[in-house]
Amino acid sequence: MKKFTSVADIGDLKIALAEAALVKNDRFAFQELGKNKTLLMIFFNSSLRTRLSTQKAAMNLGMNVIVLDVNQGAWKLETERGVIMDGDKAEHLLEAIPVMASYCDIIGVRSFAGLVNKKDDYEEKVIEQFIRYSGRPVFSMEAATRHPLQSFADLITIEEYKTKERPKVVMTWAPHPKALPQAVPNSFAEWMNATDYDFVITHPEGYELDPKFVGNARVEYDQRKAFEGADFIYAKNWSAYADPNYGKVLSTDRDWTVDTEKMALTDNAFFMHCLPVRRNMIVTDDVIESERSIVIPEAANREISAQTVLKRMLEAL
Ligand code: CP
Repeated sequence: MKKFTSVADIGDLKIALAEAALVKNDRFAFQELGKNKTLLMIFFNSSLRTRLSTQKAAMNLGMNVIVLDVNQGAWKLETERGVIMDGDKAEHLLEAIPVMASYCDIIGVRSFAGLVNKKDDYEEKVIEQFIRYSGRPVFSMEAATRHPLQSFADLITIEEYKTKERPKVVMTWAPHPKALPQAVPNSFAEWMNATDYDFVITHPEGYELDPKFVGNARVEYDQRKAFEGADFIYAKNWSAYADPNYGKVLSTDRDWTVDTEKMALTDNAFFMHCLPVRRNMIVTDDVIESERSIVIPEAANREISAQTVLKRMLEAL
């Protein structure tokens, strides 16, 4: 595997899930693969889970790991070509990428959407430059429009907990005080559409996602109706995608918060969220602390999704 930025890069999902199960069964079985190989993780944005789980995954594979927080101690990086660099950005990505690549074998990049210019965000300008100019395998640790390591972990988790061959999975928008990217919901939708699950998306009007990611999912504007008979509730906030409101918060209506009353409409559904989560905005204390909440095993599976992807990248070096 030379790059991992979307579900298309993982190939057959059944094969990927079987490989993930193999990794999970004995996560130290492939330690020779990473011997004397170095992973560089580059963060343009904050992280808890991605950083720790990916580092742990690399260590399980015997790799050395170096981490760069671009906003803490590194030169500020210019990402646009043609800019007169007379401001506070001292280094251009076009020099920084090959320099960083010279110190490692595989690169992971986290670079969120700016939520100002939709075209720039949806062209994935930052990670695409790493893919083009590094000469190294590159994987997304959440880019502007997708978070595939999260979605792969979500899929692994659903497969582990499902009790029906074709579960009903509902992704619900929920309120949040700040504008968040569409990367997680886009990506989750993309991965769910690659399965044969019964997949439903519910959100207030105005929060329609890019049709490319919605695909064949059913969109239901009545959240309570969407929850009926669900086996999994996947909560997430996102800012508006549609123009002229791209990147804006249109509602913080707490009537969309996932609570016990709404969970009672489901078929005893499991509750999922990628974390970090704002309690009593996205989900009530009662729901996230309930025995049907699987947010912790979901986060734990981030190690497995990262290790499966890194294993494939190491095998292709
Ligand atoms: N879910 C997730 O990516 O968490 P972090 O932002 O903490 O990495």
